[in-house]
Amino acid sequence: MTKRSQFVTKTGVIAATVGSAVGLGNIWRFPYEAGVHGGGAFLLLYIVCIFLIGIPVMLSEFVLGRATHQNGVGAFRKLAPRSPFRIVAYMGIIASVMILSFYSVVAGWIMEYLFQSIEGLFWNVDAEQYAERFAAFISNPWRPALWTLIFLAMNFLVLRRGVEKGIEKISNILMPVLFILLVIFCANSLSLPRATEGVKFLFTPHFEELSASVVIGAMGQAFFSLSLGLTCMLTYASYFSDSTKLTQSAVLTAILDSLVAILAGLVIFPAVFSFGKTPEEGPKLVFEVLPSIFAEMTGGHIWSVAFFLLLFFASLTSTISMSEIFISYLVEERRMERQKASILNTGVCAVLGVLCALSFGPLSEFTICGKNIFDLFDYVASNIFLPCGGILLSLFAGWALDRAIMRNQLTNDGRLSARWVKPLRFCMRFIAPIAICIVFIYGLL
Ligand code: PFF
Repeated sequence: MTKRSQFVTKTGVIAATVGSAVGLGNIWRFPYEAGVHGGGAFLLLYIVCIFLIGIPVMLSEFVLGRATHQNGVGAFRKLAPRSPFRIVAYMGIIASVMILSFYSVVAGWIMEYLFQSIEGLFWNVDAEQYAERFAAFISNPWRPALWTLIFLAMNFLVLRRGVEKGIEKISNILMPVLFILLVIFCANSLSLPRATEGVKFLFTPHFEELSASVVIGAMGQAFFSLSLGLTCMLTYASYFSDSTKLTQSAVLTAILDSLVAILAGLVIFPAVFSFGKTPEEGPKLVFEVLPSIFAEMTGGHIWSVAFFLLLFFASLTSTISMSEIFISYLVEERRMERQKASILNTGVCAVLGVLCALSFGPLSEFTICGKNIFDLFDYVASNIFLPCGGILLSLFAGWALDRAIMRNQLTNDGRLSARWVKPLRFCMRFIAPIAICIVFIYGLL
């Protein structure tokens, strides 16, 4: 048995789980999903999903991960050798590869913007031209694909170094800085003319607009944003030490993650209305609006460089965590060297990532169910695979897992109060799986 590494400090644990959770999901995906799905109602449902479904599912993953100190497949092998539940671990591997593929494309867009900011290319154009320039960039036959590959190469370089050194150091320093920057940008956006329209859009729920796609979208966003349902948090928890407080870590991660998403919404939507744009732009939204925000700010040049640089690192801490799912499986279950496993993970995602990158250009005509490859990967992984994984993980933790293991994990072998054990177990057994099923059934009707 190879010795497994551990997150060394308590802040290291929080920084790593928050580092996985906070990323493009909060700053790029949340505003565009909220924009497409009507704002206020989406936000409310999203928050409900985070607390009612997200925290129980995250704790299910934490318990399974730390109780076994194994990757997803290994955890099920150890706890329930022949149970069909282990399919969830394989689904997680597939979902992680799909997400890493399209995520790297968006991270590539961020890198393009970082370079444009450094070179000062944002400032000598009219506000209307930002949208055109972005459209021209993503439809380019090679540039987005090249950035995708460069990003994956960087992800690979960090992965090779193992868990604690790379991840802990990077996320310990950068997450708080990103947070502070968002607060500053938020204050700036709120001072723009017509900013209140954006605030109203984000915070006033219009339930008459509620539809199946809004509900499914909000649940998918909650899973995506908290990195849940694909054994990512399970794998991370396998590196936790015996003293890590699971419940506290899960709640803190959920709160910080939602806070960043809401802050991002408060940066983007006031600006959307102020600059006369519409919130329904989809994946392009943030990239069309951000340059206008920076152009308005004193010292916008510096702000934009700092922001895209931090967003790049936030993306990297997320992609490192999703890569760990496949890599830890290959290393621990298939006895592959870490280096080789990292190469395999990067190689598969490079091929799929290029296909995603081209789906706004040369491959834009290629659609399945009206979605290009990029959108399809995102939709299938986030809205179907992750919630299905969530159902299975919480059912397994709630029903199949030995009650004593659950109790010991949640109370650190009796050293912490057991007050939350019963209600949490109830959520894992009933609330979370039933809520996810209701959303699915509502979606099918
Ligand atoms: N939670 C990340 C984000 O919001 O950007 C995305 C993510 C990371 C999804 C890790 C899935 C995962 F396993």
